Amino acid sequence: MAKVRKAVIPAAGLGTRFLPATKSVPKEMLPIVDKPIILYIVEEAVRAGVEEIIIVAGRNKHGIEDFFDVSYELQDKLEKDGKTDLLEIILRIQSLATVLSIRQKQALGLGHAVLCAKPLVGNEPFAVLLGDEIMIADANAKTVTQQLAESYENTGKSTVAIMKVPNAEVVKYGIVDVKPINETTFAVQSVVEKPKVEDAPSQWALPGRYVFDAAIFDLLKNTRPGKNGEIQLTDAMTGLAQTKGLLASTFTSRRYDAGDKLGFLQANIELGLQHPEIGDGLRRYLLEYAQRL
Ligand code: G1P
Repeated sequence: MAKVRKAVIPAAGLGTRFLPATKSVPKEMLPIVDKPIILYIVEEAVRAGVEEIIIVAGRNKHGIEDFFDVSYELQDKLEKDGKTDLLEIILRIQSLATVLSIRQKQALGLGHAVLCAKPLVGNEPFAVLLGDEIMIADANAKTVTQQLAESYENTGKSTVAIMKVPNAEVVKYGIVDVKPINETTFAVQSVVEKPKVEDAPSQWALPGRYVFDAAIFDLLKNTRPGKNGEIQLTDAMTGLAQTKGLLASTFTSRRYDAGDKLGFLQANIELGLQHPEIGDGLRRYLLEYAQRL
């Protein structure tokens, strides 16, 4: 079965939930401790064996391209100052993967953003990772994208991640109608974008990690605007489920909703606590601060 070598990261959103911070800085560049969100996403994909990252960007997203490019002056200065540890961090980012970008010229929806990547993906399976969600796997555990890629490579079927959400939250997600295959794997029957709770087929939600067969592109091309007048990835997924088949899999990583202010702060605190440089200091501060609340 073909290997999943490419990953698409849609990054054309305006980041309105984080204004004014995102007025001139792409939301993907906001830091969780000392790394921008996009780096966590790229690292997850690379751990799954992805070699080529395709960023679907809008205007105002040069910061993302520059981040993965050579920074000659900075590198030169770090080298002359003997700051080899920092230099290594910078050089590692450039060599993680080949990073390509393509423009989504109009904000026509997530399905349209994924379709924009077709000229760079071609006719092979690919992963999609949404930057609003950060997934952290333990050091020796599989990343979500790795779990999905292995499912594709073993079965030849597109596979998407799912998680159970409370009824009050189904309206925030694509929700899948599934038939269980085993404890962690399900066959998707159809997908509904952000249903009202009374219309939701289940509480299984899509947290923004997918591995698709290239057949999704033809389905996306024929997908008419759906919920909110946008070309929805979830509508094309229903087409895929009913033709080539679509699997859904639970996952073991911890998930942070970094597209939300509270989730963003939680990610900063939890990952800050694990950071070798500041973890102990942050823990002491939080304990002391909690006394004052
Ligand atoms: C998008 C998708 C939705 C998915 C969600 C995950 O919605 O359309 O199906 O569940 O991402 O974050 P958005 O949050 O971009 O509105």
